[in-house]
Amino acid sequence: MAPCDYLARRAASAPRPSDLDAGVRVIGRVLVVAGSDSGGGAGLQADVKTITALGGYAATAVTALTAQNTLGVHRIVPVEPEFVEEQMRVVLEDLGADVIKTGMLASVAVVRAVARAAARWAPGVPLVVDPVMIAKGGAPLLAGDAVQAVLDELVPRAALLTPNAPEASALTGVRVQEPDDLGRAAEQLLLRGAGAALVKGGHLEGDTIVDVLRTADGDEERFTSERVLTLSTHGTGCTLASAIAVGLAQGLTLRHAVARAHGYVRRAIETAPGWGQGHGPLNHAHPLEPRPGSAQGTREALH
Ligand SMILES: Nc1ncnc2c1ncn2[C@@H]1O[C@H](COP(=O)(O)OP(=O)(O)OP(=O)(O)O)[C@@H](O)[C@H]1O
Ligand SMILES: [Mg+2]
Repeated sequence: MAPCDYLARRAASAPRPSDLDAGVRVIGRVLVVAGSDSGGGAGLQADVKTITALGGYAATAVTALTAQNTLGVHRIVPVEPEFVEEQMRVVLEDLGADVIKTGMLASVAVVRAVARAAARWAPGVPLVVDPVMIAKGGAPLLAGDAVQAVLDELVPRAALLTPNAPEASALTGVRVQEPDDLGRAAEQLLLRGAGAALVKGGHLEGDTIVDVLRTADGDEERFTSERVLTLSTHGTGCTLASAIAVGLAQGLTLRHAVARAHGYVRRAIETAPGWGQGHGPLNHAHPLEPRPGSAQGTREALH
């Protein structure tokens, strides 16, 4: 079954958004395949927080360990490709997944292992591929020769690709400098077999940020946002892709999942705690209502 058919079928039995907002049940399993960020702002830590805050369930297959803070990536310890595959296998065989979301994949061997594991143990499960290449501080997170492997092995299987502007350029050769270029790059990714592409405009200049979504039916939708003038943008890309992935896992349509994710990221930037001396983390927990007995509820009760 094509990933898009799978998504359409799930959308037909979608929970009402009010069910999701209520946050009383865990709905939607996402297997995150990504690198660990010890600072907790990006990578699989951001993914797990996002998926949890939006009412879903996150499992993980770790692709690399990074010693990282808001100032940058200090060291990377790779995980053996066979072990990445094994983490995916045991999760998929037992817990299962409604969506698989990939982030930092580091090397050709890991890209191949992930594609192999997804095809073998999760055929028909939609893949949301965030083709992470460079960290906000400039550290390379994907080997140069792995770009072709992503194009060959993951793009044709992706229900959705979420490159930022430089990643879209690296994957397509399109010079991405203004919003119309985002759409042209997305079109190229569709021609290479992706079910849909959301090319993000955070790296372009201007007070307004445009993210462009192109789908296989030829539609284009633009998601715009006034740029928040802040250094707290560590992990915006991971957070956005995970928020979309959990929306799809919960049965939202692609457009609804992207719209909800876009609003979630914006609010997470606006309410960021401001920690660290560099690119600081977002507030992933903003949808969580303070409840009696919770840390915040307790703080409020004390005042
Ligand atoms: N300063 C900002 N104000 C508002 N929205 C932002 C800002 N920066 C990024 N975004 C939004 O965050 C999302 C991620 O975009 P971005 O282009 O930063 O991705 P990215 O480069 O992959 O992020 P990362 O560096 O975390 O990998 C997009 O929806 C974008 O519109
Ligand atoms: Mg990114």
